[in-house]
Amino acid sequence: MNDELRARAEIDLGAIRANVRALRDRAPGAELMAVVKSDAYGHGALPCARAARAAGAAWLGTATPQEALALRAAGDTGRLLCWLWTPGGPWREAIEADVDVSASAGWALREIVAAARASGRTARVHLKADTGLGRGGCPPHDWAELVAAARAAEAEGVLRVTGLWSHFACADEPGHPSIGAQLDVFRSALATAERAGLRPEVRHMANSPALLTLPEAHFDLVRSGISLYGVSPGPEVGHSADFGLRPAMTLAGRLASVKRVPGGHGVSYGHHYVTPGPTTLALVPLGYADGIPRHASGTGPVLVGGKWRTVAGRVAMDQFVVDLGGDTAAAGDDAVLFGPGDAGEPTAQDWAVAASTIAYEIVTRIGTRVPRVYVGEGAG
Ligand SMILES: Cc1ncc(COP(=O)(O)O)c(C=O)c1O
Repeated sequence: MNDELRARAEIDLGAIRANVRALRDRAPGAELMAVVKSDAYGHGALPCARAARAAGAAWLGTATPQEALALRAAGDTGRLLCWLWTPGGPWREAIEADVDVSASAGWALREIVAAARASGRTARVHLKADTGLGRGGCPPHDWAELVAAARAAEAEGVLRVTGLWSHFACADEPGHPSIGAQLDVFRSALATAERAGLRPEVRHMANSPALLTLPEAHFDLVRSGISLYGVSPGPEVGHSADFGLRPAMTLAGRLASVKRVPGGHGVSYGHHYVTPGPTTLALVPLGYADGIPRHASGTGPVLVGGKWRTVAGRVAMDQFVVDLGGDTAAAGDDAVLFGPGDAGEPTAQDWAVAASTIAYEIVTRIGTRVPRVYVGEGAG
């Protein structure tokens, strides 16, 4: 398959559709938002958005307005929320493209009101509360004022508050005391908004770990990112298979060289690996420019010839080496870095452990130089 490619990230759209169905079954009282920011965590925003919609995702979610507008330009017409705004917008383009926008502060609301007036459209706005994450969102002491300003603009017909929402800090550590504390602050923020007269269509707080482990956080809408791609949010949450999820991305390269070397031979920059005896070295044509973490030098696992090998020495910009020991292989053979794991290959989580990071970063950082090859596009 695709023998001419140096390397490829194969994306199983059938897995994405099946994951959407499994996630919807897990949150039966809520709608599902497919979070497709950062090019769908490296999987390709448009094909993944289409697959998620086909399997029943009522909403899409992006971070930047550019990501949302690109989906619209490609023909997506469903509900779509975009949450990472900086002064200047582009609010008007988003409002005119029927994108739900998010506001966490008075300045954002004022810019939304001005853009809605200029376009003659009613903006759809989600107000975001900081319930304890300490990142985006309106802090509790400013919430009543933000809500009042939104309600006044709503009464004028210039906007409609369609959503009230927040984001967890530690949902990937089930039982963490901040989880209950954030839920309490969110419920209180909802009550304040209700008293002020806001009647949102959707209240939402759950990301993947909360979707998978915390039904009381589901509210009306759950925002699924990493779980959509079949990857568990982390070992404390569980294995993806425990939730009926299947990793959608398989990353493989074709060996660029295979050669015998004597013992005592230094390998790759800095000679941090030295062959323990006469051996066979294979060259994998993927490097940190492709998103292979340099932190996985000496630790990253790769399936070659049916066995796990380990990155020998440093990961370079475009390539790294594995030591095949007494085994043989040929240039052009496959080296599978990660995949679903059921053909014996490592998973993105194995790479996360090898590079002291999280699986989110492993899949999302696979670079644009690696072609995405889509499979499973048919029905099912
Ligand atoms: C605001 C927001 N909601 C939801 C998500 C999706 O999170 P996850 O990938 O854990 O499902 C993210 C991603 O970081 C996010 O920033």
